[in-house]
Amino acid sequence: MSELRVLISRQQIADRVAKMARQITTDSTSESVIFVGVLKGAAVFLSDLVRQVQLDATFDFIGVASYGNQARQEKVWDSTGEVRLTKDVDQSLRDKNVILVEDILDTGLTLTFLKRLLLGHQPKSFRVAVLLDKPSRRKLAVEADYVGFTIPDEFVVGYGLDYAERYRNLPDICVLPDVPLPNES
Ligand code: IMP
Ligand code: MG
Repeated sequence: MSELRVLISRQQIADRVAKMARQITTDSTSESVIFVGVLKGAAVFLSDLVRQVQLDATFDFIGVASYGNQARQEKVWDSTGEVRLTKDVDQSLRDKNVILVEDILDTGLTLTFLKRLLLGHQPKSFRVAVLLDKPSRRKLAVEADYVGFTIPDEFVVGYGLDYAERYRNLPDICVLPDVPLPNES
């Protein structure tokens, strides 16, 4: 396996996540919020973020997987979905202030799928917080309300992000060179 290169250090992450938490606190005007983390990549980000938000907050998790991982790499998105749900939220989101927490916004397929799904719960408000954004890879026009870092088109691991389930526990976000971009969430 090739050498890992630090792209965003643990200190840079900590500073940025603290700022995002302050922004979310300010924007939420003292209303309670529910954070919905996308498993598994967002678990680390969510745990740091929620502990710094000064609001009446709860959190839950949702799980997704992509069908596109093995044989069919480049597929046309359709409304039946390339992305499928593997774990739904445990509670109703109706009339709640929902903040979806995702590790990385890449092609936008996952976020588009989740947005449609969660808006179906008829929340009071719906926002999206992503740690990383790779706008150059976007296939569907979808954006987050809060973005930690905009990064170039490189495959990154660490701070929750994996390659074949490895590296999630790295404290820094690192570039893993020579990796084909996967479709697995
Ligand atoms: P999207 O549906 O293409 O926007 O993909 C979002 C998902 O792809 C993320 O939740 C990640 O699981 C995965 N992903 C995209 N880029 C990377 C990366 O650079 N490293 C690790 N996972 C990635
Ligand atoms: Mg993921």
